[in-house]
Amino acid sequence: MNRGIRYVLLSLVVCLCTANAQEPSVLGDHHVIMHMVKSGKFLLLPIEEQAQECHIRLLCKNKEVKNLNARLAVKKVDYVVPVDLSVLDGSEFLIDVDFWNKNYSVDELGKLSCWSEMKQANSFNTVNREKYRPEFHHTPSYGWMNDPNGMFYKDGVWHLYFQWNPYGSYWENMNWGHATSTDLIKWENKGLAITPDALGTIFSGSCVVDKDNTAGFGKNAIIAMYTSAGDNQTQSLAYSLDDGMTFTKYDGNPVLTANIPDFRDPNMFWYEPTHRWILIISAGQEMRIYSSADLKEWSEESRFGLGYGSHDGVWECPDLMKLKVENGSRKGKEYWVLVCNINPGGPAGGSATQYFVGNFDGHIFTPLDDKILKSESLWQDYGKDHYAAVSFSNAPDNRHTMIAWMSNWQYANNVPTMQYRAANTICREPFLFEGDKVKGKKSSSLYLGSRPSPEYSGKGLDKKIAVKGSCEIILKNIEGEKFGINYDEKNMILSIDRSKSGEVEFSEDFAVPVIAPVHKKLTSLRIFIDNSSVEVFGNDGEVCITSQVFPKSKYNKISIKEK
Ligand code: FRU
Repeated sequence: MNRGIRYVLLSLVVCLCTANAQEPSVLGDHHVIMHMVKSGKFLLLPIEEQAQECHIRLLCKNKEVKNLNARLAVKKVDYVVPVDLSVLDGSEFLIDVDFWNKNYSVDELGKLSCWSEMKQANSFNTVNREKYRPEFHHTPSYGWMNDPNGMFYKDGVWHLYFQWNPYGSYWENMNWGHATSTDLIKWENKGLAITPDALGTIFSGSCVVDKDNTAGFGKNAIIAMYTSAGDNQTQSLAYSLDDGMTFTKYDGNPVLTANIPDFRDPNMFWYEPTHRWILIISAGQEMRIYSSADLKEWSEESRFGLGYGSHDGVWECPDLMKLKVENGSRKGKEYWVLVCNINPGGPAGGSATQYFVGNFDGHIFTPLDDKILKSESLWQDYGKDHYAAVSFSNAPDNRHTMIAWMSNWQYANNVPTMQYRAANTICREPFLFEGDKVKGKKSSSLYLGSRPSPEYSGKGLDKKIAVKGSCEIILKNIEGEKFGINYDEKNMILSIDRSKSGEVEFSEDFAVPVIAPVHKKLTSLRIFIDNSSVEVFGNDGEVCITSQVFPKSKYNKISIKEK
């Protein structure tokens, strides 16, 4: 054998040995380390969803280069998730795992299936493996998703960031994932945008396009403000000079703090009359409003919320926007709408989006109909699967295009998908309308509607139904699973029934009654059916009910019964 070939063979043997030598060292009742040699772009972590959470650190040259929490497989592997090994600064590394729950004996720890199943690879397969994956709604290519974050539009591209756990299909390790679209229908996932740091994981927030370089990061820089979720919640900035593809964190973080535990989800916009940036942020069960000239130094302007609307949960993910009234005596007039997501406390249990109509002068939000708003809660969507709704910044033609997370904190972690968990709603255009006068009923007469964005028109994605009075509509599939929609004109109620819609047993909170008040007689319904959702719009958005469903096959029959 010539020397060259002998050398190659020998190296191969050494390589194989290194791979085989992947043996864990158990250090005590909850601590295991394992030496590894880099052989691929990704370390594939084997996950078992029912296993306990453990804390994983990757160490290279005695330095921590990555840390995350994951449910490493104990008995069986449900799926694998990739950890990008480009963070390593060498080829040898150590994986250090803390099973802080201390559920295993020292003997068991060394035998968990994760050690032998931990592989490396140069690629990670994200091809859809699940029947519930929607066709025209955004989902992460893998892993868990909650709130939409930092959305903005620029140069023909809609940018959507989102709360993402890329290391498991359940809530953990919050990062901002990123996706883009040119038509709001097809979304391209771009991977990680903003990742955790020493200040904490990355909770929800917003982005603005800094056209005049007010912050000094550059003209047209995209500036994100997000909540750094560490021991306490503080607000941090990151900027992007490549239209939102990559972000650099600001050295002066955090830029805004408070002495309360729930202080998060900053939402920024430019207010032309005072020439200042406005920031609205949730603070326990109220919203705080701040202003700034440069996005870095913020002064508090006012607070809103105590005594108004529902307080059955924490107020989260605010938005504030000026909208036109489309009908009635105030047609054409503009008012401000304060969007306030709340969890729990929604009309059908769990999380939902309430709103307040009022005025804003750059300092204070003043609700209209003061007495009514104190005693009544109004909801943007009465379905159980519409949460964390916020709008895109810098949308064209002064649009306030909104998107919501299509799930509910009551069961979001239990819905029957694995490769990914949760989708976003279709995008919607909010508007104000006056409701029919209701005799003897104390009721605000200006309401928020949400119309499907114009991008969905003419694509054959919706079913349109003319409504002449009370009626019942049933969506069915060949397996006989059904989703009911009921309009009761006498009582002015639109309701849905998903108790026989498909898989429902994963949570007792899933198939409960869902009822929406109708403020103007219905003349039409628009229904968007995807593989795992039904979005119902009465009068093109004057009343909305969004629901997840998990049928054996997509509903392909509709029956309509007039009553
Ligand atoms: C709302 C929320 C936000 C928070 C994020 C964390 O669903 O609780 O308030 O920023 O989720 O993932």
